[in-house]
Amino acid sequence: MAFLNLLVLVLQLLAAFVLQVGGAGFTYNGFRSANLSLDGIAGFTSNGLLMLTNQTKQDTGHAFYPDPIDFRNSPDGEVLSFSTTFVFAIRPDVTNFSAEGLAFVISPTKVLPGGRSLGFLGIFDPKTNGSLTNHIFALEFDTFQTPIFPDLNDNHVGVDICSINSFQQKSAGYYDDEDGKFIDLTLIGGEPIQAWMDYDGARKQITVTIAPLKSATKKPRIPLLNFTYDLSPVLKQSMYVGFSSSTAPIFFTNHYVLGWSFKVDGGMAEDLDISQLPKLPRLGIKKVSYFLIAGLPLICLLSIVLVIAGVIYHIRRKRKFAEVLEDWEVAYGPHRFKYKDLYIATKGFRDTELLGAGGFGSVYRGVLPTTRRQIAVKRISHESRQGMREFVAEIVSIGRMSHRNLVSLLGYCRRKGELLLVYEYMPNGSLDRFLYGTKKSFLNWDQRFRIIKGVASGLFYLHEEWEQVVVHRDIKASNVLLDGDLNARLGDFGLAKLYDRGTDPQTTHVVGTVGYLAPEHYRTGRATTVTDVYAFGAFLLEVVCGRRPIDPQANKEDIILVDLVYSYWNDGRILEAVDKDLANDVINKDEVEMVLKLGLLCSNSDPMARPTMQKVMLYLDGSMPLPELSTLGVSVGAIGFPYGKSFQDVSTSNHSYPSSSGDLYSQFSHVTGGSFLSGGR
Ligand SMILES: *[C@@H]1O[C@H](CO)[C@@H](O)[C@H](O)[C@H]1NC(C)=O
Ligand SMILES: *[C@@H]1O[C@H](CO)[C@@H](O)[C@H](O)[C@H]1NC(C)=O
Ligand SMILES: *[C@@H]1O[C@H](CO)[C@@H](O)[C@H](O)[C@H]1NC(C)=O
Ligand SMILES: *[C@@H]1O[C@H](CO)[C@@H](O)[C@H](O)[C@H]1NC(C)=O
Ligand SMILES: *[C@@H]1O[C@H](CO)[C@@H](O)[C@H](O)[C@H]1NC(C)=O
Repeated sequence: MAFLNLLVLVLQLLAAFVLQVGGAGFTYNGFRSANLSLDGIAGFTSNGLLMLTNQTKQDTGHAFYPDPIDFRNSPDGEVLSFSTTFVFAIRPDVTNFSAEGLAFVISPTKVLPGGRSLGFLGIFDPKTNGSLTNHIFALEFDTFQTPIFPDLNDNHVGVDICSINSFQQKSAGYYDDEDGKFIDLTLIGGEPIQAWMDYDGARKQITVTIAPLKSATKKPRIPLLNFTYDLSPVLKQSMYVGFSSSTAPIFFTNHYVLGWSFKVDGGMAEDLDISQLPKLPRLGIKKVSYFLIAGLPLICLLSIVLVIAGVIYHIRRKRKFAEVLEDWEVAYGPHRFKYKDLYIATKGFRDTELLGAGGFGSVYRGVLPTTRRQIAVKRISHESRQGMREFVAEIVSIGRMSHRNLVSLLGYCRRKGELLLVYEYMPNGSLDRFLYGTKKSFLNWDQRFRIIKGVASGLFYLHEEWEQVVVHRDIKASNVLLDGDLNARLGDFGLAKLYDRGTDPQTTHVVGTVGYLAPEHYRTGRATTVTDVYAFGAFLLEVVCGRRPIDPQANKEDIILVDLVYSYWNDGRILEAVDKDLANDVINKDEVEMVLKLGLLCSNSDPMARPTMQKVMLYLDGSMPLPELSTLGVSVGAIGFPYGKSFQDVSTSNHSYPSSSGDLYSQFSHVTGGSFLSGGR
């Protein structure tokens, strides 16, 4: 009897052992050679990760163990105990932003009734949800707080029985084995998490535990969820086990399962061999993604603003430095300056760089950015495009002139309504500054005589030595510049022409400066070499006497310099006309007298009586004696100021300005409209 009892006991133990060992189960340490049934967007990676979702948004993925598992010994038997453990990881596309989640599922079929309905984790849909007839049990890892569902938060674990409304749910975390403290766990943290679920068939006890994956399986002692529920009405005899997951419409989330072991009616599921689990893809790109998502709109906005700002800057810069360049100008390449260079050279035409302002425009000092060469830039506002071609041709022609007594014209630049002429820089400025004015400095006789000879030589070059005859049109002290060694350099030639040309013939201007204009020039409006000689005569008297040709502040009879000098000459005391500043200087009386007489000779109101510049050169050299004035029949009347009383109405400023036009001169407009380079020689 005792033996029999023992036998029964042994048989029972054996049966129990056999049953336990024979209990269905499986273990996957990675899914490299696994034969799971997949659907939706589920798949495997090459290193054996089960990827429930790929990069597709708002879709579902399912993976089931291919064979059904018996959860009861007979259709009416008790639901057997079962146990499972798996390692999963949720990698959101955007760090800390995930929707939906994944779930471990026990289902009567491998095809879940769920569609793509949002919030149902691919398990249910609004029709199947909540009905006991669907026989679905799920353990959900929900990473989204669906507004219409009573979700606890966006990071919870729940047990779903036939319904997406969890029967039990808890915020994800685990209890520390040492002090029993609850430690939060972020499901979407991207790191692997191990989960355990056990069902005690006898006690109808369900326990769920999660913990971060450690190098060895270490299940926390206290479970996250621990409750009683009789699964008899839920689980049928034959069921499939697997996973379900879904992704949200905006961002996708990668749901990975690294390993999985399951056992029914045989105690605990087999421990996973953590060292064998496949590695997750490396993190890091996610951080960039987060940065991009947070920063992208900002970066985009910033880029757009930058691009717009750049375009505006470019347009403004282009407009600022815009030039007028026509086809015909291409030939003048080397004479053409870039506006940008001139702008930089003159520090943006700053007032501090202003050398002077005259009737034709303002002159600025500058340093060319490329060559560091000092320049003077004359800025002339000029609206007329008419005649510009001829004028520029002349400018370029002038640019080829080279004489030690001429200011070199280096080139030009054209903008809308503006012409810029680039000259060599003259450090000592203009001669009038030395003769009179507030900042007057003293020039002794030798210096003055050298200047006179220099100007004569420059003018002779223009009239007779250059390949074409060039009429200066505006000889006067303020157009004579002094270089570093006080050598005279004649400047501004040809500019008067700019104002003569291109304007309406009806309003042709006589250009020049009052006091230097020959009577016939004023009468006919026509500038010639002879009118230049007249102006040169006025200039000679100006330099010797140290005053302007017309001085309104002087006594009535002394206003006009040429008349004054003439009367001194007439009285036989011409030397008294000399600049008072020269009184203490050792002067060569013969030279002074000769120059004064030459001044009177040139100022003769009869054009035919004036000497040519070649003659003037000879007189100044002393190679030819000056003819006696009286023998030329010079008279007060002949030399006298030709403008009548009208001079009092005109400005006495020393600057050139276009005199007002009279009807008288309009008939000569076609004559004056010709080139100031009066043809070839
Ligand atoms: C995701 O999986 C589906 C189904 O296999 C496939 O059609 C789709 O191209 C995959 N998408 C990506 C981004 O791999
Ligand atoms: C995978 O599982 C299916 C369904 O049980 C079965 O038909 C197939 O033979 C299995 N394939 C392998 C390679 O085990
Ligand atoms: C993501 O959330 C966790 C927990 O809320 C936080 O510790 C972590 O700093 C967050 N990461 C980023 C990039 O915001
Ligand atoms: C799902 O079914 C439960 C009943 O079990 C119900 O309370 C809940 O509102 C349903 N949820 C949805 C989103 O239909
Ligand atoms: C679960 O709760 C029951 C009773 O509430 C308790 O007896 C059991 O020990 C708990 N299980 C675990 C694993 O703590």
